[in-house]
Amino acid sequence: MSKPVLLVTRKLPEAVQARATRDYDARLNLDDTLWALDGAEIARRATATGAAAILCAAGDAMNAACIAALPPSVKLIATFSVGTDHIDLPAAKARNIPVANTPDVLSFATAEIAFTAMLMAARRAGEGERLLRAGQWGGWAPTQLMGVTLEGKTLGILGMGRIGQAMARMARGFSMQVHYRNRNRLSPAEEAGAVFHADDASFLGAIDVLSMHIPGGAATRHWLNAERIALLKPGAIVVNTGRGTTVDDAALVAALKSGQVRAAGLDVYDGEPKVFAGYLGLENVALLPHMGSGAVETRDAMGFRALDSVDAVVLRGEVAPWAV
Ligand code: DGY
Repeated sequence: MSKPVLLVTRKLPEAVQARATRDYDARLNLDDTLWALDGAEIARRATATGAAAILCAAGDAMNAACIAALPPSVKLIATFSVGTDHIDLPAAKARNIPVANTPDVLSFATAEIAFTAMLMAARRAGEGERLLRAGQWGGWAPTQLMGVTLEGKTLGILGMGRIGQAMARMARGFSMQVHYRNRNRLSPAEEAGAVFHADDASFLGAIDVLSMHIPGGAATRHWLNAERIALLKPGAIVVNTGRGTTVDDAALVAALKSGQVRAAGLDVYDGEPKVFAGYLGLENVALLPHMGSGAVETRDAMGFRALDSVDAVVLRGEVAPWAV
């Protein structure tokens, strides 16, 4: 019997592609060409191949028009990401196509990159590396590249989901106090001593570092705007590893220039891979290329989690274990 077709939009880790090929007639993207930036092309390929499922990734154009044009053969959209902002979920619901993502397995790795960005911003690590690579380091100096320590500082976590909670655990090891802002207050066990804030003003005014872990989409667009930046303590640090759309870039650049925000560490951008030009000339912002989940173990686990959902729906006719 022929294997069901699995349309894979991006090049995936070898072990993930090997499993996909073992169990499906997998249409891989070995060159990692960016055809999935075009929603019509995704639908065209799904139709041409009679795909039973689509394994897509962050940034793919799984928009309403694409989903409306998918053939009836498609039983599942599985995304190689925890974020689903690239998928029009109401459109998928209207077509009765379940959507599955890859939660949990990337929480620690993404928190690691949030922590890296926080350290780079606080301790001016990017500046130091640029100085050295430019051949401009004249040797140790008592006042050179002085940053601020994280020890004893208050970390404010916006979005205390799995990634935010992983970041909180790491921060305790750095002797930081943790405060958080979230739709709902967590249970005492999940809070583990973190201080909940029911409103933005008390949250932003209480913290030294803001780490943003909220999803993208219309509801969170430009959450960090000039008004909220003004509520931060002068000289606060801003870290964003969630989605770039949640920050008003012009407002953050203005605050980085004025000193209202001392430094920032960013891993995600509005309209990425484009990066807001205002950041590029600033020394006090560490810029990483959306690498939160980019650890070998994590990327394998994400692929396997996505395939677990495809197996359940396509091979066994069950509900996807990681349906959103
Ligand atoms: C996600 O999973 O949503 C990340 O942003 C990509 O790893």
